[in-house]
Amino acid sequence: MSSATGRDWIASKGTPLRGELAVPGDKSVSHRAIMLASLADGVSRVEGFLEGEDARATEAIFRSMGVHIEAPEAGGRIVHGVGVDGLRAPAGPLDCGNAGTGMRLLAGLLAGQSFDTTLIGDASLSKRPMRRVTVPLSRMGARIDTGEGGVPPLRIHGGGALQGIDIETEVASAQVKSALLLAGLYARGTTTVREPHPTRDYTERMLQALGWPIEFSPGFARLEGGHRLAARDIVVPADFSSAAFFIVAATLVPGSELVLRRVGMNPRRTGLLHVLRLMGAEIRETPAGEQGGEQVSDLVVRHAPLRGIEVPVEHVADMIDEFPALFVAAVHAQGTTVVRGAAELRVKESDRIATMAAGLRTLGARMDETPDGAAVHGGAQLQGGGVESHGDHRIAMSFAIAAQLADGEVRIGDIANVATSFPGFDALATRTGFGLREA
Ligand code: S3P
Repeated sequence: MSSATGRDWIASKGTPLRGELAVPGDKSVSHRAIMLASLADGVSRVEGFLEGEDARATEAIFRSMGVHIEAPEAGGRIVHGVGVDGLRAPAGPLDCGNAGTGMRLLAGLLAGQSFDTTLIGDASLSKRPMRRVTVPLSRMGARIDTGEGGVPPLRIHGGGALQGIDIETEVASAQVKSALLLAGLYARGTTTVREPHPTRDYTERMLQALGWPIEFSPGFARLEGGHRLAARDIVVPADFSSAAFFIVAATLVPGSELVLRRVGMNPRRTGLLHVLRLMGAEIRETPAGEQGGEQVSDLVVRHAPLRGIEVPVEHVADMIDEFPALFVAAVHAQGTTVVRGAAELRVKESDRIATMAAGLRTLGARMDETPDGAAVHGGAQLQGGGVESHGDHRIAMSFAIAAQLADGEVRIGDIANVATSFPGFDALATRTGFGLREA
């Protein structure tokens, strides 16, 4: 099978998964740490920064707008903030790489600057919908041109005056909410965002930690423009979404017992734990204190047989990045697992319903797509074969889990983008017992 990057994995049954591991820093928090520390007055130290391509793309963007950022060691950054009005016009287009979070949050933040900017991205990001941010931002007075069909590049015209709004977003999206709040920093008056379902609140928490007055509760956020941010050290917790691959893998592979250290447990991120437990998973959670204002826990995951369920719709937004892994779990459950209310999966780094259904079917699973979800019929024995990740990091890692239960080798195409969110996944996975190597 050919692949877009020429980098493939060969994955196959390994041994039971054992040992202790710490996954890298949270991607969402790493983006926001660079953005808000750059806009603060003074010097902030960031610890636990994700050395992934997405967060590094955001870092490079702020450097190109005049922010001095030191990288004294892996996972460490010293950000010399320039103040909310201290960014400088960059020399050329700003490349967000694969990162929807980077581009959408920046659309809001840059709409408030005095200079023009252009945001570009890789092949996957260049197909993703941006009107969800540009349309509500235009109601605040922002002037942003998109490519045809509402996709990148984004041409953001600076120098206009923004006005606060009171808005109910159409999709439950932390990226959309955050874009509006970041524009709200530069707007006259008050910006209020109400959501159809609560989403992750890292932007709100970090603004508050850096001293910007903000009111927020699940599904609601309100701030007013014209304040300042004060530098502060930021500790990035381990990314629950990266831990999720190991949680699912240890649940599925017989004889496994894995310990995951100090994982970020923001309730808006941990929907997968509720759903896996409803399916019968054995996951023990021991609180291990706080990191960067977030509760972190040690998780002990043991192999357990699963049963299919209807995934409660109220958990969908809290596990939006975990569905590729959940589909793999559902293949190994007794009975059918039904997902509804998850149409957002179709506009992630790939169409995650279609890419997972195509690959899992190739391996012998039974998965029916619906417009906003899927029905996965458990109990089929997976076989080897060739599957495509379509350059989607979470799809590649999910197929690596599926391969641990397949009879035969699975070739996973186009895996280079795993480095956007989880550099070193393959080394950590093989250390715990995965059968996985680069082709
Ligand atoms: C993110 C929000 C989610 C998530 C993405 C990161 C964020 O997207 O899928 O990986 O950091 O705000 P939506 O908010 O658009 O669902």
